[in-house]
Amino acid sequence: FAPRHFLSIADLTPTELVTLVRNAHQHKTAIKSGSTPANLNGALSGKTVAMTFSKRSTRTRVSTEGAVVALGGHPMFLGKDDIQLGVNESLYDTSVIISSMTSAIVARVNKHSDVAGLAKHSSVPVINALCDLYHPLQIIADFLTIAETHPASLHSSLGLEGMKIAWIGDANNVLFDMCIAAAKLGVDLAVATPKGYSIPPFMKEIIQSAAASSPKPGKLIETNIPEEAVKNADILVTDTWVSMGQEEETAKRLKDFAGFQITSELAKRGGAKEGWQFMHCLPRHAEEVSDEVFYGPRSVVFREGENRLWSAISALEAFVVNKGEIV
Ligand code: CP
Ligand code: NVA
Repeated sequence: FAPRHFLSIADLTPTELVTLVRNAHQHKTAIKSGSTPANLNGALSGKTVAMTFSKRSTRTRVSTEGAVVALGGHPMFLGKDDIQLGVNESLYDTSVIISSMTSAIVARVNKHSDVAGLAKHSSVPVINALCDLYHPLQIIADFLTIAETHPASLHSSLGLEGMKIAWIGDANNVLFDMCIAAAKLGVDLAVATPKGYSIPPFMKEIIQSAAASSPKPGKLIETNIPEEAVKNADILVTDTWVSMGQEEETAKRLKDFAGFQITSELAKRGGAKEGWQFMHCLPRHAEEVSDEVFYGPRSVVFREGENRLWSAISALEAFVVNKGEIV
């Protein structure tokens, strides 16, 4: 029996993506009102979920540990200095051993090939907790956050078709999975990056095949002019300009990204929709978004952060409890 892994939003059909977001919403509503859904109650009782993290994390660690506990299981956090992986033992040996004693592996790695390698040799589901190309748990939380502003739609399909997201900043892991999700959900995504930082061609192909999997795909628009991306956008979103692992490029990046900070003046100049909202996966640095926007009334970043918990519960239910059957 080959386990089903969750390495990217690209692993989901459009219907499965909607289901993961909808389930996250239903579990959030039920658990917050004091009732754990019967199928989740003790669903991981007596089971261990390994969390192998080779980079720091606040949200992903807290939400995953909390989600495993909510399902009655034991989260075992294994930081980069705790285990032999990458220093004293191969990916193959580590994967075979950890998966022989646990029910799932949630892994934060540097290279996508590392999480793919773990998955290849694991006898239990592997869930990607961030690599250099993808961040699927974040994107489930992000679309839950967006869908919550259209509560009626959460009962069937998300009904977000025709909406426009503007991403202003670096073309990175969070953006790539967001593009794949937007394409599948019929949401248009305009990406403004400085010259030299656009989405690489191989990733554009992956986004195009995501679009081909959708009956009503969202459009990907690319530009180097932030105002152009912002035009008529419902959501303005960004992430750090310097992802973990790129620290050596900090000075160059700060220079190259000058003029890409999200501010209310940018939203006004570019002509964002009247009720535009701001999102950010966090951690945030002041250069990519002004305090006024980040802490202002349009910002949904802290609800987005909390939604990581509900996203993790939904993903564990689908991939670990239900063994990859997303219903
Ligand atoms: N958004 C996110 O993944 O945050 P952490 O790096 O703190 O987990
Ligand atoms: N793009 C960021 C996301 C952190 C959650 C990074 O990779 O560091």
